[in-house]
Amino acid sequence: MRSLITGGAGFIGSHLAEFLIERGDEVVVVDDLSTGRLANLDRITGHPEFSFTEGDIRDEDLMAKLATEVDRIFHLAAAVGVMLIVKRPVHTIETNIQGTEIVLRCAAKHGLPVLVASSSEVCGKGTGVAFEEEHDMVLGPTSRSRWSYAASKAVDEFLALAYHREQGQRTVVARFFNTIGPRQIGQYGMVVPRFVSQALKGGPITVFGDGTQSRSFAWVGDVIRAIVGLIEEPEASGRVFNVGCDEEITIGKLAEKVRDMVDPGLAIVHVPYDEAYEEGFEDLGRRVPDLTRVREAIGYEPTLGLDEILKLIIEDIRGRLDASIRIDRPSDCGQW
Ligand SMILES: NC(=O)c1ccc[n+]([C@@H]2O[C@H](COP(=O)([O-])OP(=O)(O)OC[C@H]3O[C@@H](n4cnc5c(N)ncnc54)[C@H](O)[C@@H]3O)[C@@H](O)[C@H]2O)c1
Repeated sequence: MRSLITGGAGFIGSHLAEFLIERGDEVVVVDDLSTGRLANLDRITGHPEFSFTEGDIRDEDLMAKLATEVDRIFHLAAAVGVMLIVKRPVHTIETNIQGTEIVLRCAAKHGLPVLVASSSEVCGKGTGVAFEEEHDMVLGPTSRSRWSYAASKAVDEFLALAYHREQGQRTVVARFFNTIGPRQIGQYGMVVPRFVSQALKGGPITVFGDGTQSRSFAWVGDVIRAIVGLIEEPEASGRVFNVGCDEEITIGKLAEKVRDMVDPGLAIVHVPYDEAYEEGFEDLGRRVPDLTRVREAIGYEPTLGLDEILKLIIEDIRGRLDASIRIDRPSDCGQW
């Protein structure tokens, strides 16, 4: 089996690439290295079944060529991270909409199954206790940049489902809720690596807002097994699946957990959203997935609890910070 992974030098994509190579598959990665890093692929670079192409998914000639070399596509490339989205809304909208259009068009020409990575942001401000795939989307106004990410991912979902309905193409949408693990960077607003990195540098840990907002955090290893399961399950085609973990924690409690695991003496401070992101920034109170559909379709079950995952992330970020200091590249420390 030959898989193309767009965004394969990123956090989730690089774990997926390793998983598929270990299984004996052939993997082609395309990535423009905007938020991804070649170092994420160190373990498989040079493997005979692995190849990397630096390029933009909006380059249709490139994508058309890559589509002739594979049997299926995991489409993960996107502008990601609340910070990046708020700062670069044009880039976000263009990357997420145009990029997905091109990937789906090229895949359709060759009848390739495609898994499209979406996001729980699509659920928006919905008030359901646990978000189901068929719940209404409740997004904020277009004057707030953050909603451009949700809207662009919603268009991606519509498009993937439309290719299935109109052309019978095998497409499946995985709606990721917060996914965490080694290699994720905090630079663009990802909360766990940001907290861990702040704690390892001696604090303070900065909580945006009052900390009562809650999230659920899924282990990246569980998420990649889910997406491989979904692309390989014919009955999943033409459907949207929540992928995540349904164990909920407030961001305030998460900060305390990280502090206690790194150094219980560290300070935790609160920063208003207006200061952290943009004036009038709207955050979401709760975001927990209902996992019934993915459980029924592929027997998905999260395997690692938050404490175990945090231990692995602390180890990873500690190693990266130490390595940056050793090789005298202090500027690299900042991004985690
Ligand atoms: N990590 C999460 O918690 C989470 C949650 C919801 C959705 N997602 C989705 O999962 C996917 C992967 O996210 P991630 O967390 O691994 O982020 P990431 O930033 O590590 O990965 C995205 C990758 O896409 C690449 N990329 C961006 N624009 C590109 C372009 N135009 N052409 C080629 N490559 C490009 C980046 O360089 C990066 O390697 C994304 O689609 C994201 O929206 C992630």
